[in-house]
Amino acid sequence: MSAWDAIVIGAGAAGLFCAGIAGQRGKRVLVLEKAEKPGKKILISGGGRCNFTNINVDGARAAERFLSANPHFAKSALSRYPAREFLALVERYGIAWHEKTLGQLFCDGSARQIVDMLLAECAAAKAAGGEVSVRCDQTVETVAQDGDLFSVTANGETYAARNLVIACGGPSIPKMGASDFGYQLGRQFGLKIVEPRPALVPLTLGGDDVLFRELSGVAAPVEAQAGKTRFAEAALFTHRGLSGPAILQVSSYWKAGEPVSIDFLPGQAQGWLIETKAANPRATLGSVLREHLPDRLAATLAERIGLSGDVGNMPDKSLRKAEEQLSGWAFNPNGTEGYAKAEVTAGGISTAALSSQTMEAKAVPGLYAVGEAVDVTGWLGGYNFQWAWASGYAAGQAL
Ligand code: FDA
Repeated sequence: MSAWDAIVIGAGAAGLFCAGIAGQRGKRVLVLEKAEKPGKKILISGGGRCNFTNINVDGARAAERFLSANPHFAKSALSRYPAREFLALVERYGIAWHEKTLGQLFCDGSARQIVDMLLAECAAAKAAGGEVSVRCDQTVETVAQDGDLFSVTANGETYAARNLVIACGGPSIPKMGASDFGYQLGRQFGLKIVEPRPALVPLTLGGDDVLFRELSGVAAPVEAQAGKTRFAEAALFTHRGLSGPAILQVSSYWKAGEPVSIDFLPGQAQGWLIETKAANPRATLGSVLREHLPDRLAATLAERIGLSGDVGNMPDKSLRKAEEQLSGWAFNPNGTEGYAKAEVTAGGISTAALSSQTMEAKAVPGLYAVGEAVDVTGWLGGYNFQWAWASGYAAGQAL
């Protein structure tokens, strides 16, 4: 057994960042990673370009843009390590970046640059008198606590440290080795787990909506709503149902059995179809919709609304009803595509069990939880990495 200041389980975004911060404070940190290389989710993120943060993330807006049983929990860590700090680090490493849309920052080159930067930050511990050792192909199997030491076994070896950081992520994308191991550890130490569920995930359609699957591949800018939350982004029809950024966003808020409502023509003023009737009475509903929407989608919506002939011959009442349908089309998803396709897992280790300043378990000194393993889930668009950096920073400063 060799004694470390801290053992971090998981060399993902949160674990690597936390280890680098602690190492640069002179700590000796061992990072154990079950995959053959560190940062695998970072490498595939953002289509290989890693949407590494969102410039609109800050503590003040945390409660609105992060889901959690306690939406205020994330404020403290996100205020102390805001997006601009991570951006400054990226720039110090000379990594070129661009804003794609809605504050989403991506590497110009490759996500590999972010992983290399995190590993370089870990290596920088040496100059500060610390050490970070990142060991891959090390599946942590058991953890025990003996007095003020945690002992961890991985591949038959036992390691000990006064601090243990759960940075194992959540069960999204099991084919990459993701599991609920972090929750098992939480339970072992008496931490409550908020029921986990797939989030930022495509929705599946059945029943009457099944016909929309024929539009597989068609995308359009819409406003989608689940419960009271709305997102104006693109939606995409798939062979199983609905996807695209607007749908992934609302999926985190969607509850089974409830509808998702789509405004196919956001921004159109009330009465626009009646105005169209006056201006262009010989048009059909299908031809009017084709001016605003992809052909196949326009045809399907017109057919489903069921008004045939020239708009000039349609009663205003029918046109008003058609407008209402188009601005609040109710889909009734019969489920989601599950953890296999979920970008993140909502729920996880309850924030009630943790200090919002340090991520340390209130009842178990020396035990920390960071990143996706915790019940804090961000919007699509760099929010989840920013949570990984901010929570990793909070724990890394405290170890
Ligand atoms: P993460 O899952 O990254 O790391 C956990 C690590 O623990 C893994 O490496 C795992 O192998 C390891 N581990 C688990 N059990 C273990 C055990 N028993 N022993 C040892 N190691 C163990 N977010 C964003 O902000 N911008 C984006 O562009 C994207 N894009 C994106 C694309 C895709 C396809 C997915 C699936 C997800 C995203 N995300 C994203 C979400 C983002 O990837 C996610 O929020 C972070 O990776 C979470 O970081 P963590 O470090 O908490 O977990």
